[in-house]
Amino acid sequence: MSVNYNNETKTFTLTGKNLCYAFWINDLGYPEHLYFGAPIGSDDLRFTRAFGATSMAATPPGIDNVPSYNAYPSELSFFGTGDYREPAVQVVNPSGDRLCELLFDSYEVVSLKPKISGMPSLDGGETLIIHLKDRLNRFAADLYYTVYDDCSVIARRAVYKNLGASEIRLERAYSFSLALPDRSYEMLSLYGVWAKERHIDRIPLHHGVVSIDSKRTTSSATLNPFMALLRPDTSESHGEAIGVNLVYSSSYVLKAEVNPDGTTQLTGGINDFDFNWKLAPGEEFETPEAVIAYSDEGIGGMSRAFHDAYREHLINKRFVKSPRPLLINNWEATYFNFDVPKLCAIADAVNGLGIDTLVLDDGWFGKRDNDTSGLGDWVVNTEKLHGGLKAIIDHVHSLGMKFGLWFEPEMVSEDSDLFRAHPDWTIGVPDRKRCYSRHQFVLDLTRKDVRDHIVKAVSDIIENNEIDYVKWDYNRNVTESWSYCLEAERQMEFAHRYALGFYDICERIVNGHPDVFFEGCSGGGARFDPAVLYYFPQIWTSDDSDAEERTKIQYGTSVVYPLSSMSCHVSVCPNHQTNHTTPFETRAIIAHLGATGYELDSTRFTEEEKAAVKRQTEAYKKSEDLVLTGDLYRIDSPFETEFFTEAIVAKDKSKAELICYRRFSSINNEIKRVKMAGLDPQATYRLEEKGIVAKGSTFMNVGFAPDFPRHDFYALKYHFTEI
Ligand code: DGJ
Repeated sequence: MSVNYNNETKTFTLTGKNLCYAFWINDLGYPEHLYFGAPIGSDDLRFTRAFGATSMAATPPGIDNVPSYNAYPSELSFFGTGDYREPAVQVVNPSGDRLCELLFDSYEVVSLKPKISGMPSLDGGETLIIHLKDRLNRFAADLYYTVYDDCSVIARRAVYKNLGASEIRLERAYSFSLALPDRSYEMLSLYGVWAKERHIDRIPLHHGVVSIDSKRTTSSATLNPFMALLRPDTSESHGEAIGVNLVYSSSYVLKAEVNPDGTTQLTGGINDFDFNWKLAPGEEFETPEAVIAYSDEGIGGMSRAFHDAYREHLINKRFVKSPRPLLINNWEATYFNFDVPKLCAIADAVNGLGIDTLVLDDGWFGKRDNDTSGLGDWVVNTEKLHGGLKAIIDHVHSLGMKFGLWFEPEMVSEDSDLFRAHPDWTIGVPDRKRCYSRHQFVLDLTRKDVRDHIVKAVSDIIENNEIDYVKWDYNRNVTESWSYCLEAERQMEFAHRYALGFYDICERIVNGHPDVFFEGCSGGGARFDPAVLYYFPQIWTSDDSDAEERTKIQYGTSVVYPLSSMSCHVSVCPNHQTNHTTPFETRAIIAHLGATGYELDSTRFTEEEKAAVKRQTEAYKKSEDLVLTGDLYRIDSPFETEFFTEAIVAKDKSKAELICYRRFSSINNEIKRVKMAGLDPQATYRLEEKGIVAKGSTFMNVGFAPDFPRHDFYALKYHFTEI
């Protein structure tokens, strides 16, 4: 990895693993993009400059006969002086004008990556900071670029500064602009809804803007904060893919714009819809980080770049590669209907089966026998749990198991002591009624007093009980974005301030209890983003626990996020969400493609099921290192075929697992042949289950036919060992 500046050509060249990024400071002082793609030589790239179609182009201010700002591939587009593309920044100056001309001032290269204050970001790498200043010296932008030698990503962000003597307003403050040389791209995005998160969408770009966003004050199940641009012929294993993922958990936008000159610009960051930010003299505004992955090995290569980046530079180092809790959760077993004997019995029933943690889900606190009351009252309900949490924890610990507890720290029920005492702590506009969602409201995390209360209430429970694990849920989206504590002109800062408030309580609760393992959750996977992953090494992927539907959800999620970040449980059949009945073994194989657990009433296990669980957990433990650290190769897509086929290959290629799933069996099936992926072509492997010994190249080019029985929803697992 390296950051170089060529004084003669005024070119900055950043080289990372399998990628190169270059721009130069042109004669106007404008940082003009030159290249982003596969590694190249250190040639002067200015020969690539080209100017295409223009329409009534305006020159830069005061200089005639020079191409417009609109004509240059941009590192950060700005508005009002001839550039009509989507600007990355829009500022309102004291006079009401919205002009800024951000030109090169200076640069620095730092080896210790600066943190963003109050927001998560990647660590490590080498960072270039470009200081841009407006011509009138009243406004500035710093552009951050970080490259790595162990993952094919470049991290980008911007910091905006008010250098003037009066207050200004930011109407838009995106994290980056990225110029691409042509328009031959398709957009891949991950859309969804509750229980159907991160499904795959792929559409061609067109002239104008294609955009995805969230206006929900959360990253949302609707559209993940991720967009990839693919060449039309890019497949899972071949071709160029450029992916951008925001390390951000609030309302965001990502845009791909095709311009008349045939170029494309990618930009985005905090959603400027319902946003503006007052910047006092001397103040600065930091934007969230955008992680941009490059691959010339198809969508799969892009995914592996993100996985490496997040495992090496984002997720808590203490937990990211360590064996995860293998848990049993009582939610689908009991919902709100439990007591101490029932919970102890659930733990007893899995004792000795390889399950090491009992997680007590919703309903242990306040008045909470259904979802209409109690949120916010983080006091143990001893009428329901005689002997309190201690009775369960002591029992679980006596079995040698760990204990986990559910919270929903950001929420409050209308029927709760907290709401009755502090109605103003809830988001909402005083003279209007609030929208309900799951009968609950959201606490105003923009307020420090509210955050302090949450931190104390949750920490007290964690510290006064022997809690090993916390599941942090978030079951509705914000409406009526308004805070009692923000002045009127600052109310449109709300969505970003909520994110900062969320990170603050995570910092204090999660990082304040470093020995406790925290899992993220949001009514399933409605807040599955890199910022959440920074605090929570794994996230409950979806409330849909049906193995068949999970193949799509987990396939889509893996486009960006590593397997180890996906929490996946084996549940009962008929499945509570879909009513499907799938084989127990299939449910285990699919759920074991992530951080795994069981979520069913173990007191009803037959002896045969107990034996199966023991077998399954032993198998999982044997190959957990692949889930935590291996390279993922998706082979058959459940969106396009009857199959879901994935391989996980050890980094040193010494072993691999192949998961083959077929949706429906039918009479007279066609032969299904699976070609393995990711093996060392020269090495010799044994395919354990079939006793076949062959070269990696043979398994990858010739393939073999998995032994699907005549059964719907059937999954098989094969192991390859290098010999
Ligand atoms: C939604 C979560 O996704 C579920 O797993 C469960 O924790 C419920 N909330 C509890 O209310």
